[in-house]
Amino acid sequence: MATTKQSLKSYGTKDPLVKYTVEHSIRHTDVQKKLGEETLKMERGMMLGAPEVLQLNQNLIRSIKAKKVLDVGVFTGASALSAALALPGDGEVHALDTSKEFTDIGKKYWKEAGVSHKVHLYIAPASETLQKFIDEGQKNTFDFAFVDADKEGYDKYYEQCLVLIRSGGIIAFDNTLQNGKVADAEEKSPHVVAIRKLNEKLKDDSRIEISFLKIGDGLTLCFKK
Ligand SMILES: C[S@@+](CC[C@H](N)C(=O)[O-])C[C@H]1O[C@@H](n2cnc3c(N)ncnc32)[C@H](O)[C@@H]1O
Repeated sequence: MATTKQSLKSYGTKDPLVKYTVEHSIRHTDVQKKLGEETLKMERGMMLGAPEVLQLNQNLIRSIKAKKVLDVGVFTGASALSAALALPGDGEVHALDTSKEFTDIGKKYWKEAGVSHKVHLYIAPASETLQKFIDEGQKNTFDFAFVDADKEGYDKYYEQCLVLIRSGGIIAFDNTLQNGKVADAEEKSPHVVAIRKLNEKLKDDSRIEISFLKIGDGLTLCFKK
């Protein structure tokens, strides 16, 4: 199935090698393309997950035979849709966001893709929902988490996801390069400072194995020991 360039955020890149890798790997369904097109027309459309990141998530989900996924930061539903498409029929995506307006767009596409039954949406601050899961006894039952919500919350989400994810499961943090600003000591924006601190913490955290990838805006993969 051909992929329309308009639907892919990363085709807007100025980096010819990123453009090349995306042009030679992305496999979007028609519904994913439509969701991407509608999202990129929105004022805040650039919050859309990078296709190469979401496709890597899908491949990891398949490889570890995941059944239960956390999607922290849903927006218009692209990351939840890609996870749901990669999961088996009885798989579950637990999708957390504070915005009904954004996630209503996602609902439409989850339905069109025939995966609505797999996506469970929670409209509340993500730390509250994750704590609810912990209190309900869902510790060590999730296989994969994609964290892509408010950057100042990442450290809290990390600790909560570590409780919820099973040994051998993966926590993936998006935007861990912050357009390169993490490497600029003069940059003091709260979201950049928060990500820089998390990167420092993850580097030597003995509870995980780590891969820090220069893909999209930076993706850090934490493999729970
Ligand atoms: C970068 S977007 C997510 C993009 C999405 N993962 C995708 O693939 O297109 C960030 C989302 O996090 C949500 N968000 C911000 N603060 C939040 C919080 N405290 N709890 C839950 N969601 C939050 C926003 O409403 C927004 O939809």
